[in-house]
Amino acid sequence: MIVVTGATGTVGSKVVVGLRERGETVRALVRDTGAPAPAEWDTGVERVAADFTDPGSLEAALAGADTVYLLVAVHPEMATHERNVIDAAVRTGRRPRIVLHAAAGIEQRPEGVRFIGAHISGLDHLKASGLPWTVIAPNGFHQNFLGTAPTVKAGSLALPGGDGAVSYVDARDVAAAAVAVLATDGHEGAVYTLTGPAALTHAELAEQLASVAGRPVVHTALTPEQALDGLLAMGWEAWRAEGMVELYGLYAAGLASAVTSDVEKLTGRRPRPFAEFAAEHADAFRA
Ligand SMILES: NC(=O)c1ccc[n+]([C@@H]2O[C@H](COP(=O)([O-])OP(=O)(O)OC[C@H]3O[C@@H](n4cnc5c(N)ncnc54)[C@H](OP(=O)(O)O)[C@@H]3O)[C@@H](O)[C@H]2O)c1
Repeated sequence: MIVVTGATGTVGSKVVVGLRERGETVRALVRDTGAPAPAEWDTGVERVAADFTDPGSLEAALAGADTVYLLVAVHPEMATHERNVIDAAVRTGRRPRIVLHAAAGIEQRPEGVRFIGAHISGLDHLKASGLPWTVIAPNGFHQNFLGTAPTVKAGSLALPGGDGAVSYVDARDVAAAAVAVLATDGHEGAVYTLTGPAALTHAELAEQLASVAGRPVVHTALTPEQALDGLLAMGWEAWRAEGMVELYGLYAAGLASAVTSDVEKLTGRRPRPFAEFAAEHADAFRA
């Protein structure tokens, strides 16, 4: 039985569907079993209530698990949340395999990027736990660009990524790769860095958005200070806004530009290019 955490989110909801399509027995960890299940889930998905902040609920939710997809939300306590799930898995006494959903760059251990730092801390804890482990380490998602739609509609892609190219990956390809890892053996100790098929600068991404929007979209390279002020003005909490600016500093330095073949190795198909994602969501980017 495979337990999926973060099961109602962008990646987790698709992991549940992909596992069910392969005939796997899936238990989805959700915070609210009273809320409707995602429409694409079949009735065979077991839903169990648990919270990353509540170790007792996690232990009950992981009972009987052979494999756990460990995906936590971006949160100031996300490192503790990963540790709580790992500790609960240890307490089941069954030595389930943990597939940690982390972030690209985890192997390089960059300093000063809190989102990646939290996953490094989780991975160190996982290695120390003695449980069998695998890491899924995706680069930034195409889907993040839906958040830029309001400014793209107004003709500007304003981000603090400078001239750095980034090999953004589609969240659907991340989920498909995760399903392949969860449903097959032979991945112990592997770190899969999931990227799209190419690294593009934000100016190139703006051109692709312009092409689907049917109007010019200019890339505006924000300074870190401008980006932070903008995110705070939009109501982002400081911890998350600062983390986002740190991540874009990594992008600007060209440290998220590597392109890997891990999606294709795991899924047997080429990862979706950004242009395909943009075309599918053209309506969101059109004025
Ligand atoms: N976005 C990117 O570009 C990117 C790139 C690389 C790696 N990542 C990593 O991907 C992860 C986020 O994935 P995602 O975008 O699929 O997540 P998401 O859409 O934000 O979903 C988060 C999930 O976590 C659940 N959750 C939140 N707080 C919880 C709690 N206290 N207890 C139990 N469940 C809780 C949410 O459940 P509810 O429905 O109850 O809220 C939801 O199912 C992060 O670890 C991030 O570092 C993201």
